Amino acid sequence: MSQEISKNIISSTIDEIRKSLKSGQVKVAVIGIGRIGLPTALSFANSGLPTIGVDINAKLIQMINSGDYPLKDEPEFDKIFENVIKNKKFHVTTDIGDAIPKSNLVILSLPTPMDKNNVPDYSALISVVKSLSKLLKPGSLIVVESTIEPGFVENELIPIIENNEQKLKVGKDFSIATCPETANPGEISSDFKKLPRLVGGVDPRTTDLVSEIYAHVFNVEMIKMPDCKTANAAKLTANVFRDINIAFVNELAILFENLGIDIMKVLEACDKKYNFETHYPGAGVGGPCLPINSYQILNSARSMENNGMLRIIRAARETNESMPYHVVELLSDALNEAGKSVKGSTIVLLGLSYKPNVRDVQLSPAEAIIRRLDQLEAKIKIYDPYFKSIEVFSHKTESDFINTITNADAVIIVTAHNEFRGIEPTLFATKMKTPVLIDARGIIDVHAAKKAGLIFRGIGRGGI
Ligand SMILES: NC(=O)c1ccc[n+]([C@@H]2O[C@H](COP(=O)([O-])OP(=O)(O)OC[C@H]3O[C@@H](n4cnc5c(N)ncnc54)[C@H](O)[C@@H]3O)[C@@H](O)[C@H]2O)c1
Repeated sequence: MSQEISKNIISSTIDEIRKSLKSGQVKVAVIGIGRIGLPTALSFANSGLPTIGVDINAKLIQMINSGDYPLKDEPEFDKIFENVIKNKKFHVTTDIGDAIPKSNLVILSLPTPMDKNNVPDYSALISVVKSLSKLLKPGSLIVVESTIEPGFVENELIPIIENNEQKLKVGKDFSIATCPETANPGEISSDFKKLPRLVGGVDPRTTDLVSEIYAHVFNVEMIKMPDCKTANAAKLTANVFRDINIAFVNELAILFENLGIDIMKVLEACDKKYNFETHYPGAGVGGPCLPINSYQILNSARSMENNGMLRIIRAARETNESMPYHVVELLSDALNEAGKSVKGSTIVLLGLSYKPNVRDVQLSPAEAIIRRLDQLEAKIKIYDPYFKSIEVFSHKTESDFINTITNADAVIIVTAHNEFRGIEPTLFATKMKTPVLIDARGIIDVHAAKKAGLIFRGIGRGGI
């Protein structure tokens, strides 16, 4: 990659930026090349722009440098990975000091998790912005893809850069925008091709420039937002909407179990109404987005009177966080029917990931289920096709599905991985010692389960 000092892009006209994009004069650094950052960096490189990926994870950098594509559960990017490395459009480093001076577009895809008290943790983002503010070339553009609270760019990130010794002024020496990522893990390739992008810059010129750049790379609809904070508010609103609606069906699920009503029949019927949006009950809501996004919105309101009256979001979190305990209650009830208790029984968990078909256990409800079963002194066995024979949540996972369920006292389906869909209930009935099946994801045909002689419980599956 060329060592030339990078071009000032923030004062470009739209025509000039188009030319720079065609001639590869937009030089990109993506900081944080994890689940979102790596596919993003590969997409930029694949559009012909020289791209450097930066990450503090030395093992990841070593893996990429040895030609090993790390995101096995994000298909389609493996080919792009090979191509952009071969044609020298993409390389990676742990050294931000090397990458930033060679770039004029810096994309931040750093993690924004929360601490054990559910307070959002922006330390990675802040520490990187502190480092890059010393290294940034005048005329550079920063795009924050990480999920952040509305106002975080304006109130936290810009002052860090402006107060640095370089004394760069926003809008004059550098510019900044947010383009909050909305892709779904496991589906990033197809989402990148179809999902519109939200772009909010510190000024309309920046919004236009970033929209032009992202349209060049992704060729999707660009939604121009009035500013950074409105773009971040839109990202959070879409995800919190889901968290709340899942909590709503989870509450109904527990009620319907008691009323002898099958929630699946209810949802099927509601789905026929044009303005109903179906969400499904389950073992809980995990992952790097939904739970954290709800706490990010709550955190935004913390200094306001009555915490901005965000009662529904708080209640939704409580309900969704209680669901793993409800799963264990269903288990205990079913085992009692079989004359057993959780203590001393061999309980199999099918699935650890927080969502189907991805290798990701961040905030997975599986963890709370395992902790509760440990407290109740169950013998736990875990099978997940994405986590074979390794230690997860202080338990060694199994490598073979049939061996795992053989002689078990109960099986809980925690994640609806494709591998678990379509399993004949008779298989459980013939292999297990006690035929207790808890379906926390609504993937088992209830009547087939009953016919096979299973003692069956499912979330929201009353009246069956
Ligand atoms: N994964 C998702 O489903 C998803 C979807 C939309 C948005 N997001 C958001 O995108 C952002 C990134 O999420 P992700 O899932 O890709 O996270 P990730 O943990 O998969 O990747 C983050 C990467 O940043 C690296 N990193 C951490 N600190 C660093 C530092 N100081 N310097 C350089 N690299 C550092 C980590 O080593 C890791 O490789 C988050 O804000 C997240 O909320 C995630």
